[in-house]
Amino acid sequence: MIMSKRYNWAVLGCGRIARKFSSDLKLLSNARLYASAARELKRAEEFAADLGFEKAYGSYEEMVADPAVDVVYVATPHSHHHDHVLLCLNAGKAVLNEKAFALTFAEAREMVLVAREKQIFLMEAFWTRFQPSFQKALEIVRSGDLGALKVIRSDFAFNAPKDPEKRLYNVSLGGGSLLDIGVYPVFAALSALGVPESIRALATFAPTGAEESIAMVFRYPGGELASLFSSLATYSFVTTEYNCERGSVRLARRWMAPTTVTVWREGGDEKTFDFPAEGMGYQYEAAHVMECLDAGKTESDLMPLSFTLAMMETLDRIRREAGILFPGRE
Ligand SMILES: NC(=O)c1ccc[n+]([C@@H]2O[C@H](COP(=O)([O-])OP(=O)(O)OC[C@H]3O[C@@H](n4cnc5c(N)ncnc54)[C@H](OP(=O)(O)O)[C@@H]3O)[C@@H](O)[C@H]2O)c1
Repeated sequence: MIMSKRYNWAVLGCGRIARKFSSDLKLLSNARLYASAARELKRAEEFAADLGFEKAYGSYEEMVADPAVDVVYVATPHSHHHDHVLLCLNAGKAVLNEKAFALTFAEAREMVLVAREKQIFLMEAFWTRFQPSFQKALEIVRSGDLGALKVIRSDFAFNAPKDPEKRLYNVSLGGGSLLDIGVYPVFAALSALGVPESIRALATFAPTGAEESIAMVFRYPGGELASLFSSLATYSFVTTEYNCERGSVRLARRWMAPTTVTVWREGGDEKTFDFPAEGMGYQYEAAHVMECLDAGKTESDLMPLSFTLAMMETLDRIRREAGILFPGRE
């Protein structure tokens, strides 16, 4: 039996998601909330005091130089993931990096190359992959019990404040719906059907130049289709459907961490599986990271880097099709 050690976690960037993730980290007995790092010491100290971290650092560089840090959760805007992940890897730290993994495929490829060369653990923090409810849905779809999967429909939209300084509408911080929330519908399609043969995508843009809404259609060699949508300018039900020949699987509202999965069968039989929420759902990915580290793995089998690279390549293809540019970054 593999014994779990207690891991010293550090967060790089003390923003909104870092707060939620750290609160869920407390649910895991083998996770020690060790260090917070922000660009300003005061911010890191406040974060550490609020969440219960033992140390606070006023720079990311100081934090990665601390030999006691085992694993770093990178929680800065996607525009900074490349540099911040490389900072951690070059300091020999295992990394859990938020989605979108990077701005471009080229950046992601370099990050993966460095991790593999150095044999250091690196994983994209795609928390949906680790939700028991999502795993159940995927298991049903893949079992073939409902016949072949033919059409996927998935969305994620919310009306975000149109603040040109904040990252969502700021192109220099990777703004736009695609890399922030459009990654989820893209993930829904790739998880079930893999990389599409062809992609069509149309986007609308905000006055800041950031993409505001995007509609995407994927077609696969077997004729399967995925109809995907994200927006920062409207609300949606935030659901995913896997539509098969003899029925359908539905992940209910806020499907990225769903508490119910409904299976409808030809003839009208409908069954709902309940997954009561524990924490906010970020603990599953953190627990998985520690299982991988316990086993001496440098990559996850559930969220392998090959999948992340396929996602990033697909996102590049969508951006080219829809005219979404990040000047100076491709
Ligand atoms: N998995 C999820 O459910 C989920 C949810 C939301 C976001 N995310 C992802 O998590 C990442 C962070 O999102 P967030 O909403 O937490 O962002 P945020 O609160 O706007 O910013 C996070 C941190 O990034 C650093 N930062 C902010 N602006 C910066 C700038 N101009 N230059 C350099 N660093 C800057 C700051 O670090 P300091 O504290 O050091 O100043 C800030 O605390 C994004 O990649 C996002 O896609 C994931």
